[in-house]
Amino acid sequence: MEKILDIISAKMQQAFADAGYDASYGRVTVSNRPDLCQYQCNGALAAAKAYKCAPIQIANAVAEKLDAADFSMCEAVMPGFINLNLSDAFLQSYLEGMRTAPDFGVEKIGAGKTVIVDYGGPNVAKPLHIGHLRSAIIGESLKRLYKFFGYNAIGDIHLGDWGLQMGLIIAQLQERQPELCYFDENYTGEYPAEPPFTIGELEEIYPAAAAKKKEDEVFAEKAHTATYELQTGRPGYRALWKHIMNVSLCDMRKIYDHLDVHFESWLGESDADPYIPPMIEDLKARGLAVQSEGAWVIPVAEETDKKEVPPCILVKSDGSAIYATTDLATMVQRMEDFNPDKMFYITDKRQALHFEQIFRAAKKSGIVPESTELEHLGFGTMNGADGKPFKTREGGVMRLERLIGEMTDFVRAKVVENQIVAEDEVEATTQKIAMAALKYGDLSNQPTKDYVFDMDRFAAFEGNTGPYILYTIVRIKSILARYGAWENLPIQSPANEYAKDLMLSITKLVPALETALRSSAPNLICAYIYELAGAVNKFYHETRILTEEDKSLQAGYISLIALAKNVLERCIDLLGFSAPEKM
Ligand code: ARG
Repeated sequence: MEKILDIISAKMQQAFADAGYDASYGRVTVSNRPDLCQYQCNGALAAAKAYKCAPIQIANAVAEKLDAADFSMCEAVMPGFINLNLSDAFLQSYLEGMRTAPDFGVEKIGAGKTVIVDYGGPNVAKPLHIGHLRSAIIGESLKRLYKFFGYNAIGDIHLGDWGLQMGLIIAQLQERQPELCYFDENYTGEYPAEPPFTIGELEEIYPAAAAKKKEDEVFAEKAHTATYELQTGRPGYRALWKHIMNVSLCDMRKIYDHLDVHFESWLGESDADPYIPPMIEDLKARGLAVQSEGAWVIPVAEETDKKEVPPCILVKSDGSAIYATTDLATMVQRMEDFNPDKMFYITDKRQALHFEQIFRAAKKSGIVPESTELEHLGFGTMNGADGKPFKTREGGVMRLERLIGEMTDFVRAKVVENQIVAEDEVEATTQKIAMAALKYGDLSNQPTKDYVFDMDRFAAFEGNTGPYILYTIVRIKSILARYGAWENLPIQSPANEYAKDLMLSITKLVPALETALRSSAPNLICAYIYELAGAVNKFYHETRILTEEDKSLQAGYISLIALAKNVLERCIDLLGFSAPEKM
């Protein structure tokens, strides 16, 4: 379906031409004075210079040529703006188009294009904590948005599964259970299928080992050696690593599933490892990697830099590869596997310099061609009420599971207290509301900004919250259920000003989603549905819907709120949550 601004612009361009001016002046924009009009065209101001006459003269001539069937108002105002309001007929036919087209008639601008969305990024054997929440929620939403526009969007979790933390766990296990066959270099049998630890034990081993490394140099050395031996293929360590992976991933999957966050690809740093040696050889051979204080680096500073951008380190002076090396090798792998049009990374904004460095190194070396876009979205911190990074009451890092659990308990108490649903529906309804509260609370903020986690506010049924949006959807659903068959009712001309406002709000869907995509900003989807939900509720309060006696008028009301519901539901799906039947 053609975009609304393009349709209106085409009409305006025709009017410019009909009035004897160049059509290119007829570009229309959304009004920046919504109190005066819905759309505006400033073209007469520019045209006046070319035609050497007063802008208002051109504006008047053009306004006369516009078709009154399309605009309820087309007015030339000083010094030469043309203000526009859409006619009822235009609104009706445009919305009927949205209602009947697949996906509301959005143009699938991503068809044939592939984008890899790298989000999540949890480290194996460490419990997920609230630092992982934003990446998961924002990444999932943006990935869904890309898919909506027709992109082949591949979410990759990019596990931290290969670094020193693995060596630390292996070294720690060896101290505790040296008798295990994994440590016996002469062992030739099959390794046991059962892991030698539970997830609980694993999660306790890692912090213990990390603490020990700081105090005990011998132990630190052992961990480094174990990491090296794991990476160079020592069989017992590889077998142990597989156990660590299985146990940890099983737990991780549960939490991501619960969050309705799904990755198309579960690759990790370990999968990029085989790409590292040939990549480094190649970079050295082409003179792109140079030696600096015993390390191999790719210089990436540019003359225009305002801040110093240090070289991208490939191989440290002790011969080991680092985070940047793995990320570059992952890019080699992704180019080979998918030849993507874009690689998109969603992490904490404190990693901004890292991504600046590897992006430059990737482009400079040709690992990633000019035609492939690289973007890093760095998000801000989730803070507590004190404005400091969110902590548990005891002052520790809060586990993601616990945060979700606390939000769920809070919502459940409300659901039970207000007797919102029958007893057997309490749990399912609670889950949906809790997810909406958590995700909308996060996503309604500009991703780059810090925000305060406020359970009371996020879970409120009124205000700019997820539950309020759900409530609006549920309200419509219940009207539709009482009305009966609503699916095929056509959109009618707006019956009152509230219907018209609601219709106008619906026309803004695709532009809002496009801007959200272009600016990597799910918060714009939230802002859009908050406005739309407001228009729905206003219409609901001002209009007798179910008691309307004029059946034809009533059918028009119903088709309008049904479309609003479909739009709202599609949008919350893009945000990563869904509405219950009752609330
Ligand atoms: N595992 C990393 C961390 O915990 C995040 C990975 C993000 N993705 C990437 N390709 N670097 O910081």
